This record gives sequence, structure tokens and C-alpha cells, in this order.
Amino acid sequence: MEFIISRYNPATDSEPYDQTFILNASDISPGMMLLEALNKLREQDPTLTFRHSCQEGVCGSDGMNINGKNGLSCITPVASLSSPVMIKPLPGMPIIRDLIIDMDLFYQHYKEAEPFLQTEPLNLQQEHLQSPEDRAKLDGGYECILCGCCTTSCPSFWWNPDKFLGPAALLAAHRFVIDSRDIKTIDRLKELDDPMKTFRCRHIQNCTNACPKGLNPSRAIQELKNFIVKNHD
Ligand code: FES
Repeated sequence: MEFIISRYNPATDSEPYDQTFILNASDISPGMMLLEALNKLREQDPTLTFRHSCQEGVCGSDGMNINGKNGLSCITPVASLSSPVMIKPLPGMPIIRDLIIDMDLFYQHYKEAEPFLQTEPLNLQQEHLQSPEDRAKLDGGYECILCGCCTTSCPSFWWNPDKFLGPAALLAAHRFVIDSRDIKTIDRLKELDDPMKTFRCRHIQNCTNACPKGLNPSRAIQELKNFIVKNHD
């Protein structure tokens, strides 16, 4: 099976280039995931660089562009891929080396969404109770693993990476806006009421299509926009 992988070493290369690797059929086991294949290819060339950790679709560190679609290599079956397999770093972000991108801007936007519960008074001796119905509203919002597959698939983010918060940050913002225990809902909505930060989303749906956890950031952003507009009244 042929793999065409984007390579880039800022110390020696002026721009990324493609390198072709071959994995023999005898090296491909049934049910093998792409991450395992990459580890085998790295035995052929130990300079091949990519992030990974949990190997279970939990840590979100091995996001990459696989045959034109963003995804996690550790939960992508090799058998599901057509050869040659084109592997590139997640698009729209600076490349540090090979498949590793600089996620600083992604985390800055996440931080801007204030992804933590704000309650008052803060009493660490008691739980902040929530009805089962209100808790159920958070399903689909809290499972995000911050892999960046959604945000880096979004043309609105590619065009305005410094201003548009992107699907992952806005999904997190929505998750806390709808949390019945949070007391900063109005402040959060005012902060997000911005033509670039939030309303730059055009619902292209790439984010929802790319999410390896099956979440729907586009729907969450639409709901967020509705809350913001309602808050004007
Ligand atoms: Fe952790 Fe893939 S290695 S999500």
C-alpha cells in the first residue's frame, strides 16, 4: 500500500514536499489503524514526525488530513482508505514539522470562549446541582477532545484565523451558555456578539463533517447566534 506523506523540516526545507512510502501487505494486519501504519513507516524513516498519545480517540493529538478529510489516525482503519493514502497536516495552521502544526491560535480562541463554569458564590463544600433534564442538554457539547479537526476544516477560519473563534471554541462557548448552573450567560452572549468572532460562521458544515466524535458544532453555533440575537430584545 502506498502512502504519500507531506514532509517539512523548517531547518532544511523552504517548503513542504511529498515523500512516498510503501507498506507491504504482510505488514498490514486486519483491523489495523492508520496510526499503527504510520509507526511502521517511521521504522523506515525515523525522521517522520507526528503527534500521538492515547491511541484510542481520546487525547485528540493525532489530527491530520487523510485523503482530503481531517480525522484522527488512531481511529481511522487502514482498510477504509484508498491507496495511495495522501496524508497532510491539518490545514490552515503553521507547520512546525511534517504533520505537526502549531495549535497556539486554536488554544487562544478556546481560552477566549471561557470554557469553565462560573458560579457565585463559589462554595467548594457543596455540589452545584442540576436536574437530569438540564444535564442532558450538555450532551453533544462536552465530549469535544480539542483535536482541531473541525476548526482547521473551516473556510471561515482559514480566511480569518485571528478573528473568527472557530467551531471548537464556539462549541465550548455554547456548552457553557446553556449550562443551567452558570450565572454569566448574559455576559458570555455579549462577549460573543461580534460579526467576526461568531457571526463569521457561514454554516458550511465542514466542521460537523470532520468531527471524529460525531459532534455537531455547526448546529451549536446556529443556536448560539439565535441566543445572541434574542439577547438584543
Ligand atoms: Fe489520542 Fe489519537 S492518539 S486521539
